[in-house]
Amino acid sequence: MIRASAPGKIILFGEHAVVYGEAAIATAVNKRAYATACELDEKKIVVNSKNLGTEIEAGFKDETNDPIVKAVQESLKNSSRKIGIGIEINSQIPVGVGMGSSAAVTTATACAVTNLLNGKNDPLKIAEIALEAEKIAHGKPSGIDTSITTFGGTINFKRGTVEPLQTNSLSIVVGNTGVRRNTKAMVDMVKAGIEDPRMGCSLFSIGGLVKSARTAVLDNDTETLGKLMDKNHSLLRDLGVSSKSLEVLIKAAKKAGAIGAKLTGAGGGGCIIALTNDPEAVITALVENGATAFKVSTNQGGVRLEQ
Ligand code: MEV
Repeated sequence: MIRASAPGKIILFGEHAVVYGEAAIATAVNKRAYATACELDEKKIVVNSKNLGTEIEAGFKDETNDPIVKAVQESLKNSSRKIGIGIEINSQIPVGVGMGSSAAVTTATACAVTNLLNGKNDPLKIAEIALEAEKIAHGKPSGIDTSITTFGGTINFKRGTVEPLQTNSLSIVVGNTGVRRNTKAMVDMVKAGIEDPRMGCSLFSIGGLVKSARTAVLDNDTETLGKLMDKNHSLLRDLGVSSKSLEVLIKAAKKAGAIGAKLTGAGGGGCIIALTNDPEAVITALVENGATAFKVSTNQGGVRLEQ
């Protein structure tokens, strides 16, 4: 039996524009998904998700719309050992709200299964398998989610290239609207409007802003980071991926003294992040406005084997 874990993530800057080849910055947070893999007597795949209360059975070559089954199938494809595999998932990451729950689960699964099959821990292979699995849920993901859940820390990501950024942990509060949304639908919505020059301009401006954000991250310059977060949110609003409940939370966080605040992930619901020196004040304001809110530590470790 092998157990592995991978972190959830927040995108600090550059979501959506990253799909079109611009750079984006993501950081790993201290909420993790755990996958336990064990060998089964029968040649089949069984995935038991404790959080969702679901159990799925599949064959090695079945067509599947389940990312975890796909991660197991891809791992088997890369190995000469064709054994039955049981997976149990436990996750601390809220589902469907932009914190990388599905990427973390598939990354942890790929790590546990490749180790069970080959006794090897190759992060590049794990990221590749997790990305294949993510395609089931998200169509054409940029790869930033599976890169941050694999490598951890804080990364500048562009067209599949990962640059680790040496930086400190930021004081960030997450406010969850509780509105689950679909990343693929949000990405498709942006794609549908891409011919509109204003949309193209917003995406391009986000790309430019990420360059300044990269410098501010490396300099641990929180004041500049806050201003750039506000600006990034305003550009995401122009793209049409904010929502009424996200706007309420952004306003509340700023009123409570946040240095900067923005939606994180695909938008349309999900979470905001607020950079703050007073996490308690921001949490109180967000909860008063109907959110679930909590502080996260950023810059956490990537995928790893657990005891
Ligand atoms: C989702 O976490 C981030 C998006 O940019 C989609 C992607 O990069 O694949 C919205």
